[in-house]
Amino acid sequence: MQIATTITQFLADEQSASQRQDRDLPVLLGQVITACKIISNAVNKGALSGVMGSLESENIQGETQKKLDVITNEIFTQTIERGGQLAGMASEEMDDVYQIPAQYPRGKYLLVFDPLDGSSNVDVNISVGTIFSVLRYQGNSAQPAAGEFLQPGTKQVAAGYALYGSSTMLVITTGNGVNGFTLDTNIGEFVLTHPGMTIPADTKEFAINASNQRFWEAPVQRYVTECVAGKTGPRGRDFNMRWVASMVAEVHRILIRGGIFMYPKDNKDPTKAGKLRLMYEANPMSFIVEQAGGLSSTGRQRILDVQPEGLHQRVPVILGSKNEVEVVLSYHAEH
Ligand code: AHG
Ligand code: MN
Ligand code: MN
Repeated sequence: MQIATTITQFLADEQSASQRQDRDLPVLLGQVITACKIISNAVNKGALSGVMGSLESENIQGETQKKLDVITNEIFTQTIERGGQLAGMASEEMDDVYQIPAQYPRGKYLLVFDPLDGSSNVDVNISVGTIFSVLRYQGNSAQPAAGEFLQPGTKQVAAGYALYGSSTMLVITTGNGVNGFTLDTNIGEFVLTHPGMTIPADTKEFAINASNQRFWEAPVQRYVTECVAGKTGPRGRDFNMRWVASMVAEVHRILIRGGIFMYPKDNKDPTKAGKLRLMYEANPMSFIVEQAGGLSSTGRQRILDVQPEGLHQRVPVILGSKNEVEVVLSYHAEH
């Protein structure tokens, strides 16, 4: 009988095999995984537990918070703060750094996360997710400042997402490729189902919120116009379009069957460089996409090389199948 590999076993084996042999990392990731299981349960209960709908409050981005945005943020902080692996946390739903309460031990990592990505979808029972990024803490303060989180994506030691879809999955990288696990609710464990995930280099599927078309820059206008022109246009083939409005679901689709996802720079609000946030959306997803053989760029620069200037900084995102992202980048270069 073939016994399934659980994510706990997998991550421990991965560290044993690596040069670094960082025993603390699987411990921290185990706590993150537990938080994702608790969130999966909360999301799955849906309206039964009275957690649908919005609050009066806004987060620092000026977005109305869903009840589940706040609940899932608390699930993350409270599940992970006591484990002793963290120096601090930051998230989409907290204006400033979350300091580990004084009674708990400190550790050498920083955790940055989006507890509920795609939360506009929760009330309508469409897939949502959680995104997380692990950085090393370089300082020695018991209360790290926001500035100490601002490391480029190349410094991430691990990144992943949980997808609460028709099944719950967890996809993770520690810089050794990308592996996907499916939650087996009978045993309460994530089980390895998608080893060595890679993004096909070519695709005929693009994802962009086309209602923003009038605000896009010329290179993105050109790319999408050419895709829509199909077989008789300059690309010489028909394209398909998808838009879930949950980045986690879009990236997951791209990891499974290829595609390109864009939330590009636009002139809708000149004070914003894009919609998605660098530290807890773009960076972890870019790490995963690159580890799976894809590309991720702002259009002008590799996302993982962007030097962050703020915890909630926004960045344009163009990611996915290598050859297709290269087409969009060549249009940016030509422009
Ligand atoms: P969040 O729910 O964490 O604020 O993130 C939503 C993001 C991302 O998941 C998605 O790709 C995008 O916003 C959807 O944007 P539109 O509302 O423009 O479709
Ligand atoms: Mn998000
Ligand atoms: Mn969110």
